[in-house]
Amino acid sequence: MLPTIEWQGDTIVMVDQRKLPGQEIYVRCRTSQEVAKAIRTMIIRGAPAIGVAAGMGIALGMRRSTAKGTKQFAVEFQKTCDMMAATRPTAVNLFWAIDRMKRTFAEGAQAGESADELADRLEREARAIHDEDVASCKAMGAFGASLVADGSRVLTHCNAGALATAGYGSALGVIRAAVEQGKRIAVFADETRPFLQGSRLTAWELHRDGINTTVITESMAGPLMRAGEIDFVVVGADRIAANGDTANKIGTYTVAVLAHEHKIPFYVAAPLSTIDLATPDGDHIPIEERDQREVSHLGASRLTPVGVKIRNPAFDVTPHRYLTGIITERGIFRAPFEVSLKKAFEDRALQAG
Ligand code: MRU
Repeated sequence: MLPTIEWQGDTIVMVDQRKLPGQEIYVRCRTSQEVAKAIRTMIIRGAPAIGVAAGMGIALGMRRSTAKGTKQFAVEFQKTCDMMAATRPTAVNLFWAIDRMKRTFAEGAQAGESADELADRLEREARAIHDEDVASCKAMGAFGASLVADGSRVLTHCNAGALATAGYGSALGVIRAAVEQGKRIAVFADETRPFLQGSRLTAWELHRDGINTTVITESMAGPLMRAGEIDFVVVGADRIAANGDTANKIGTYTVAVLAHEHKIPFYVAAPLSTIDLATPDGDHIPIEERDQREVSHLGASRLTPVGVKIRNPAFDVTPHRYLTGIITERGIFRAPFEVSLKKAFEDRALQAG
């Protein structure tokens, strides 16, 4: 499996996703500041992977802390959490992971643990977030694969793969699981302007796994659907509101409307950590605006005239009415989503006791 992010001694190592597929370079983060920068600059990206990185970055920062006494340690912990929270605003997995680390810290502090013991506890939690994410992807894959018929031509947008998670992937996990079941699947990967996660990352990881993959520009998705060449769409998510409205990479909304028009099933695959019941609907999801340079340039080459206005919202919101269902590690949920998603959390809480 692809090593998206891992501990190596007292460092966190991640593959530099900005450099793929040309170069497979691994970046070693020695401080929480370096991890925060890696998230902001998209060395690591994808909602679940951002959450995992934030948890590890916080644990790493506190492991290396030179704070004297638990009070100073607690102040430093809060500052480290704030720094992580300021990296990227849309992917709710980031805030979910930070909250989880805060709860872990509070439990240890309540038990009167020393700074060293708290650091150990935080590292255990960060490792648990990582391992649970892989397990969630495998479970999503198993549920989602049941929806994909043998011989399907599957369209996906952006990269919701092993690189965007702790491993295996959410949307690409569904595809991987279908292929592992022996189904013949042909994948169409939207190029995904402007950061090209589809043509660079999805194509790279699926091709590496020997999965039949064709890259298209997003403007080709509509004509292919109209020609009857797409049977199924599956994408990931950065934040799913309580009513099912889904923020994902810019361009997802267009794909969803097209799928609806052509009566093609459109599924979102995401772990419960991407579902934000505190956000009522898509209008309340913060959308990240990224550097104009991502649009104006391709590598070092300028594509647009100097001085021209540019917009670069990194995500869009797909209204829930376009979703056929949401594939999670707890099963497949359907409309009305405010009921089914709420119940998914209640059932999980009941099971956890
Ligand atoms: O800007 P990115 O590359 O972090 O955006 C990633 C996406 O939009 C993914 O589809 C989403 O995070 C789901 S990843 C399993």
